[in-house]
Amino acid sequence: MNNTDKIRKLIELREKTKEGGGAERIETQHSKGKHTARERINILLDEGSFEEYDMFVRHRSHDFGLEKESYLSDGVVTGHGTIDGRVIYVYAQDFTVFGGSLSETHAQKICKIMDQAMKVGAPVVGINDSGGARIQEGVKSLAGYAEIFERNILASGVIPQISAVFGPCAGGAVYSPALTDFILMSDKSSYMFVTGPKVTKTVTGEVISTEALGGAQMHASKSGVSHFMVENEEEGLLLIRKLISYLPQNNLEDPIQTECSDPIDRLEDELNEIIPENPNEPYDVMDVITQVVDRGEFLEVHSLYARNIVVGFSKFNGMPVGIVANQPNHMAGVLDIEASRKAARFVRFCDCFNIPLVTFVDVPGFLPGSAQEFGGIIIHGAKLMFAYGEATVPKVTITLRKSYGGAHDVMSSKQLRGDLNYAWPTAEIAVMGAKGAVEILEGRKLRKIEDQEKRTAFIAEKSKEYTEKFANPYEAARYGYIDDVIEPRNTRFRIIRALQTLATKKDMNPPKKHPNLPL
Ligand code: HXC
Repeated sequence: MNNTDKIRKLIELREKTKEGGGAERIETQHSKGKHTARERINILLDEGSFEEYDMFVRHRSHDFGLEKESYLSDGVVTGHGTIDGRVIYVYAQDFTVFGGSLSETHAQKICKIMDQAMKVGAPVVGINDSGGARIQEGVKSLAGYAEIFERNILASGVIPQISAVFGPCAGGAVYSPALTDFILMSDKSSYMFVTGPKVTKTVTGEVISTEALGGAQMHASKSGVSHFMVENEEEGLLLIRKLISYLPQNNLEDPIQTECSDPIDRLEDELNEIIPENPNEPYDVMDVITQVVDRGEFLEVHSLYARNIVVGFSKFNGMPVGIVANQPNHMAGVLDIEASRKAARFVRFCDCFNIPLVTFVDVPGFLPGSAQEFGGIIIHGAKLMFAYGEATVPKVTITLRKSYGGAHDVMSSKQLRGDLNYAWPTAEIAVMGAKGAVEILEGRKLRKIEDQEKRTAFIAEKSKEYTEKFANPYEAARYGYIDDVIEPRNTRFRIIRALQTLATKKDMNPPKKHPNLPL
């Protein structure tokens, strides 16, 4: 073979890798509305930026006739490229090759890019579409999974890790995404479960569809396993690009500040009117968020799960922040098990990656009742408290209305090292709401009043007294628990100035191996 032939061979081999498992299987993939691995990578990365590794890798198995069937790349496309010019490592499983199943060599390819990403300090995006462990390779594929899991664990908090699930994800295959920071699923074409419907029926007798057991809708709204649900793959891949724009490359860098044309001192008169006169009337906290952040842009995370709390990314004067806000429009913004877990995970992510936290508080307390207590609200609420208390990033808190009881302490209070805690004049910071307080404090007297009318009048009078004394921000401000009471329409400016001031903040936790989170 002369040199020209050698070069021709290389070109042919490179072309051949694009065939994956063959035209027929690619056709089947397309007919399901799914893209191939390379098509997905091309949508995700900046045009022409992808550098592929290990395209000549083939499996090494000689069992079950596999010695006669092997494909270039072995079912996963790996390499690096850029998103908005920033280096990103990526792997995309190729369902057209043995159903994207994970072999020894397939795992090694993923591990290689993860190892490089850790050395370089760049995020990893994994696009999952796989029948799980390659059955023919047995324990070698199980070991391959474990190699990936260990890398996911060691990379956690060092580089951002994002998982897209665009197909089946069963058995051990769900655990790598679960160890990463964000999971995104495409509606009606992806599912995740530890055991599928067939095994479920055999073991427990329960009959359930694939979609109901592990579809995107279920994971986005019920289990909370998925942070984002998208209509189709393009939407998902573009969403990953957007998500990356809020994140730093690694834990030693700050998120990237961009130019901002939105005036920092923009006054929003509507905010002065947004809190209803009736304290039990809801409003949409999204209206507060979108009026104060840059150009109203907010990337909500977990939008369908635990809707009583809102979390997501946004920018103030071009600086990325994580926002946490109680949502009075849903269950009055109460903190329950799901809301506590959702917000705790988000707060910890932001703290890992130096993303300042802005918290909007309107919380009536923790949700009472046996369902919550049996479910361990004590431990789950403690997760959120822990997350805020250990976070050392800049923390700016705005109390909009209610801030009652334990929930007041939890929601980035001064004593959990809140840096700047502001309140609107409509804030009510107290141990509990007026009615509950009167029933406890005046219980002895109330029990003696038999006449219903007199009883109601007594409660109203005492509630008024209590409200005047405690349902305001000034009692907390008097002790310095609130740094300032601010005019709502000026909130954007006050947050930006707080973040600018805190940009050089340094805070540390005592040296330790790691904290013992209330898991
Ligand atoms: C080898 C596999 C495979 C696997 C699919 N294929 N899964 N090959 N190992 N795990 C192959 C099929 O033989 C087929 O090959 C091609 O991929 C497409 O599969 P189909 O079944 O035709 O596709 P579809 O009908 O879309 O169903 C996809 C599927 C199903 C739901 C993923 O294939 C399936 O249930 N696979 C097994 C899933 C599973 O139980 N995996 C092991 C999980 S345990 P051809 O040649 O026809 O194209 C696990 C342990 C890890 O992962 C533990 C780590 C801790």
